[in-house]
Amino acid sequence: MMTSTEIRQQFFDFFKKQGHEIVPSAPIVIKNDPTLMFTNAGMNQFKDYFLGNKKPPFLRVADTQKCLRVSGKHNDLEEVGVDTYHHTMFEMLGNWSFGDYFKKEAIAWSWELLTEVYKIDKGKLYVTVFEGDPKDALPKDDEAFNEWKKWIPESRILFGNKKDNFWEMGDTGPCGPCTEIHVDCRSDEERKTVDGKKLVNQDHPQVIEIWNNVFIQFNRLKDGTLDALPARHVDTGMGFERLVRVLQHKQSNYDTDVFTGTISVIKNITRQSELVFIQPTSKQSIAVRVIADHIRAIAFAISDGQLPSNTGAGYVIRRILRRAVRYYFTHLNFKEPLLFQLIPIISQQFENVFPELAQQKEFVAKVVKDEEESFLRTLDKGLKRIGFLIDHSIQRNSSTGTISGKEAFELFDTYGFPLDLTKLIASENSMSVDEAGFEVEMSQQKNRSRSASVLDTEDWITLIENPINEFVGYDSLQVKSKVVKYRKIKTKGKEAYQIVLQATPFYAESGGQVGDVGELTINGEKIKIVDTKKENNLTIHFSDTLPADLTGEAIAKVDFSKRQSTAIHHSATHLLHAALRKVLGTHVAQKGSLVNDEHLRFDFSHFTKVTDEEIKKIEEIVNEKIRENIRVIIKEMTIDEALKLGAMALFGEKYGDVVRVVMIDPNYSIELCGGTHVGATGELGYFKITHETAVAAGVRRVEALSGKAVENYIEEQFDSVRRIRELLKNPKDISKTIEDTIIENAGLKRKIDSFEAKQLLLVKYQLLQMVQKISGINFIGEIIEAANPEDLKKLCFDLKHELPDHVVVLAANLEGKAVVALMIDERISADKNLDASKIIKESISPLIKGGGGGQKTLATAGGQDTSNLRSVIDKVKSLFQ
Ligand code: SER
Repeated sequence: MMTSTEIRQQFFDFFKKQGHEIVPSAPIVIKNDPTLMFTNAGMNQFKDYFLGNKKPPFLRVADTQKCLRVSGKHNDLEEVGVDTYHHTMFEMLGNWSFGDYFKKEAIAWSWELLTEVYKIDKGKLYVTVFEGDPKDALPKDDEAFNEWKKWIPESRILFGNKKDNFWEMGDTGPCGPCTEIHVDCRSDEERKTVDGKKLVNQDHPQVIEIWNNVFIQFNRLKDGTLDALPARHVDTGMGFERLVRVLQHKQSNYDTDVFTGTISVIKNITRQSELVFIQPTSKQSIAVRVIADHIRAIAFAISDGQLPSNTGAGYVIRRILRRAVRYYFTHLNFKEPLLFQLIPIISQQFENVFPELAQQKEFVAKVVKDEEESFLRTLDKGLKRIGFLIDHSIQRNSSTGTISGKEAFELFDTYGFPLDLTKLIASENSMSVDEAGFEVEMSQQKNRSRSASVLDTEDWITLIENPINEFVGYDSLQVKSKVVKYRKIKTKGKEAYQIVLQATPFYAESGGQVGDVGELTINGEKIKIVDTKKENNLTIHFSDTLPADLTGEAIAKVDFSKRQSTAIHHSATHLLHAALRKVLGTHVAQKGSLVNDEHLRFDFSHFTKVTDEEIKKIEEIVNEKIRENIRVIIKEMTIDEALKLGAMALFGEKYGDVVRVVMIDPNYSIELCGGTHVGATGELGYFKITHETAVAAGVRRVEALSGKAVENYIEEQFDSVRRIRELLKNPKDISKTIEDTIIENAGLKRKIDSFEAKQLLLVKYQLLQMVQKISGINFIGEIIEAANPEDLKKLCFDLKHELPDHVVVLAANLEGKAVVALMIDERISADKNLDASKIIKESISPLIKGGGGGQKTLATAGGQDTSNLRSVIDKVKSLFQ
């Protein structure tokens, strides 16, 4: 039996023989595409080749792509684990033609590979072909049908509708008719009784699709129409885990060697008896499958740079992780972090195909463990709460019920239950969740803390067909160009525009470096470019206005001084990165970066705080390199050459075959980088770290300044020291003088406190002289001088034991504010049924235009009006007379 590794290799070997270049998987996390968070198909990384935005380096390529289908158009999450052939993360084997071969070759090769190389029984295969669609004015795919007829009897070729046989990446983007290959894995007897043809695309667990060949011919626009592409392409995707299952003759993907290693580790750690797994539908069997599946999605997403978080792609990862935790907590009765213990086996298994995980395995495990610990802290309470809600709802309705939007939101907000987890638990109890209600609660919360921007885009208006969007901004900051296309967008409720130029000097935000700003002049009309971003590989310029005429010659000019300061911070980031690795160790890897004209921010893996001495050492190294005035050498080369040179491979970045390498002393810093840099390090002037903090488990953040920004910073620091010096009358030793002043102040404060205490004692004795006897009560009512409201209370306390049967009301004017304290002896309060707190609230607060409260025996009030203090005392007195 072939191992999964051998099966993958045979795929590569086969397509290499047909002239394909084998390329690495793109990261599972997508950075520059507003329509997608994760790679959901092998074709994502090639989207620009299909759309004609970019020229491919090879016309035929093949690869295995890490994909994640948990959100958007392609979402398989709910099937995972319940069935045996859907996954969150899966590998998609693909072969691609960029305007090269088409249906004939693609169909012939897929047949040859499956039946000749992998030797799948021809009698078990079915294929489907697109039947056409009148709404989109698409004809039946006769071409594919005729090609298939060469290989497979007509009776095994089925026609399918748009849902199954017209593949689209998302709501918009490249698409086209497809032909799918299905395999019938049932036993011979079963196949005799029911014709496999009837089970194709019927969700039968043994009659499954393994390969989809898409013939990309169109671009779906926002308005729903199809635009024919300039060339025709092939995009194929074969589910690797399913293929392995077929070739290893298993009933389930989870019984193949892709998963068995992980599953046996899960079983060992959770100490389950094998008996509970006899039934593939038992809770334990499902739990083990879910965990074995989810940990792969989590591990590869984190190693590609996506940390779990509360928003966007980070929240998708957190949701998957929490779902997995709940499965082991409830169904495997395991109450400690488990997932992180699976990282070693997975990283080892994929070391040769996806090395990025093995190279960061300690970091990934640490992040996962931390996430698990944090969710386990509230999970138990949350499960009790949802259990209670379910029980009550069942009691209330006697049959099935619904978890309300408010309740689901409480579970989300207080116990960290993602909505899909609540839905899952509800459905296990035959209940549903009011999702619309949840969304209402959620949007109310969002409204409360609104910062998210809504981006609504219209279709592009194209002025020049099939252009090259070339970035020339490494060498020039001003060029003559032309507008290729533009569109209106809405962001944060405001209208704005996106413009694409034929050639542009504007650097689009990427690799942490912010997008350039500057000006665009067309026919003498100047508009401001406020930002530049990448969408796939197109450089998009953002502006708030459009010139009247967009067809003329456009002069695109970057703001030079901002760009220069940004380049300084980018080069400083490279110097910093290398220094961090020298001082802290080679485990330091970039986890995030921001570079702009004002400062730099660098996030990296490291487990403890960077000490002051380490920071000093890092600064020393960087400043040393600045003084050496090293020339920055930038070269393009193949990724292999770059790695041979010792370049740091930054995971989570997507590289083509040729990479840009930035060298600052080949023995010091070599990085793959698309950013803009200085000519020599001397331009940085000086480097200073201003902050060091933690951002997430195992990730530290350093903020630093260089160039003009550090000059400004030092100027400010000097200024404030100068001001302090002047205030202190230019002492010789400034810190000694400040220290002395602090000590002197503390002494003065002590003196004042003791003076005030003595004063208070004096007042107390005076008050005791002023006791009036009113119907058996010792009454004191006086306006006194006090330093703060506490004094009044303190006096009351002091009088309490020296004066039986007392009623004391003290009032003071504290710098224009009225304060009152009222104390009534406990017995008197009971006898007369008079409550100090009530008197304060009802009779006194209105007199001083304020409020207060307290206990039956002691209450206080404060107010704005000091003119009635005498009346306050008279009022109290009258109540007791
Ligand atoms: N794009 C197609 C799919 O994802 C084939 O690769 O199924």
